[in-house]
Amino acid sequence: MEQMKVLLRNQGKPDMEDAKAYIATGGYDGLKRALEMDGAEIIEELKKSGLRGRGGAGFPTWLKLKFAFDTESAEKYIVCNADEGEPGTNKDRVLMSCDPHSLLEGMVIAGRAIGAHVGYIYLRAEYPQVRPILQRAIDSAYTCHALGKHIFGSDFEFDISIRSGAGAYVCGEETALFESIEGKRGEPRYKPPFPGVHGLFGKPTALNNVETLANISHIFRNGAIWFAGIGTKGSTGTKLFTVAGNVAHRGVYEFPMGINLKALIYENCGGIADGKGLLAVQTGGSSGPFIRPDQIDIPLDIDFVAASGGRLGCGTVFVIDDSNCILDIVRNTQDFFAYESCGQCTPCREGTIRVAQIVDKICRGDGSMVDVRALQELIDMLRVAPLCGLGHSSAVPIASVLQNFMPEVEKHLDGDACVWCNTQKGGRS
Ligand SMILES: Cc1cc2nc3c(=O)[nH]c(=O)nc-3n(C[C@H](O)[C@H](O)[C@H](O)COP(=O)(O)O)c2cc1C
Ligand code: SF4
Repeated sequence: MEQMKVLLRNQGKPDMEDAKAYIATGGYDGLKRALEMDGAEIIEELKKSGLRGRGGAGFPTWLKLKFAFDTESAEKYIVCNADEGEPGTNKDRVLMSCDPHSLLEGMVIAGRAIGAHVGYIYLRAEYPQVRPILQRAIDSAYTCHALGKHIFGSDFEFDISIRSGAGAYVCGEETALFESIEGKRGEPRYKPPFPGVHGLFGKPTALNNVETLANISHIFRNGAIWFAGIGTKGSTGTKLFTVAGNVAHRGVYEFPMGINLKALIYENCGGIADGKGLLAVQTGGSSGPFIRPDQIDIPLDIDFVAASGGRLGCGTVFVIDDSNCILDIVRNTQDFFAYESCGQCTPCREGTIRVAQIVDKICRGDGSMVDVRALQELIDMLRVAPLCGLGHSSAVPIASVLQNFMPEVEKHLDGDACVWCNTQKGGRS
């Protein structure tokens, strides 16, 4: 299947930080159209487009804006989640680098929709090269009246500034992100109240992923009907996929939603690197499940992947060749969660460490079925007890290994140490 470049349409073009260059490509036409509409009309257009969040959960974007729209307040905020902490994921970095104004334009339209006049981009600290690109784009947008007072001669005003993260994965969680911007420790809040009612600085806030917001600019430039005609019925538009791991051609690709996972790996990304076989694929980032080679003939559509026990998440596809051991790979993933747990709530703080320790024990050949049963109990607890999505999703990778790769787990039990696992550096926790 051919790539369909909508979000990446300006990739490779020079000077895309310059608002004038962006305008020459039809940029800001969507904003000009939105400035003639009121908030309710903008939200209705987004509803018609079917746009769903690209940050992980696939929540309908129009509904999120509507919550903030419906809440009375003199101050409201638009926040762009550019934390991109999911290991192996860099689609937001690519998008912000090649077409920063599409993000700014989407943020202004979202601000117009809910009646916000201030937007923040929460940028991952590990992307120092993106910050000057975004800043130059913001400065240029002010010069061209796409930001500031009287945007394109209208009565609408909107300001955008950048805030840096400090390197914690949990700060990608929306409420931890608010705490971080507010200068506090990045720990998730209890919900409800939800951000549409009580978000940044306690005000109604709409927080969206970079890709979601950039999509808004294209929807208003080309129309909701055009957008709804791309992809599948429940997952409209295109999607950026970061394909990582042992694949011949790694990178960020853009396809209509619903592209077949197997075709993506074998036809578009050149198959498994170095002529090796496929061991497993993890979809949706570290918090996604590992699936077997016979399970990859599926469309990458938000609902379909969820119904088959997976998750599309942020669209990361992590390919693992058969020179690896799945137990060693999942040990690494569970170490990551134990390390990144913010420690605020006991089930996650203790549970993620215990899971990582047991997986390491099994890797070393010291585990038994008693440990597998203990893992299952911990998984059941982690699915429900933690406060935020980090704790919940930490159970997904190990649960998928117990479900899809039990023969490999059994091979490690009762003294059968795996040579591969023992030569790797595991057990960080
Ligand atoms: C631990 C954790 C980390 C997250 N990291 C990110 C991230 O880096 N970027 C992102 O857009 N969403 C991330 N999310 C999801 C956000 O909380 C939020 O749902 C999302 O940004 C909403 O945007 P969307 O509706 O446009 O998808 C994370 C969630 C959790 C629980
Ligand atoms: S689930 Fe984990 S990351 Fe989330 S608040 Fe609790 S300890 Fe922190």
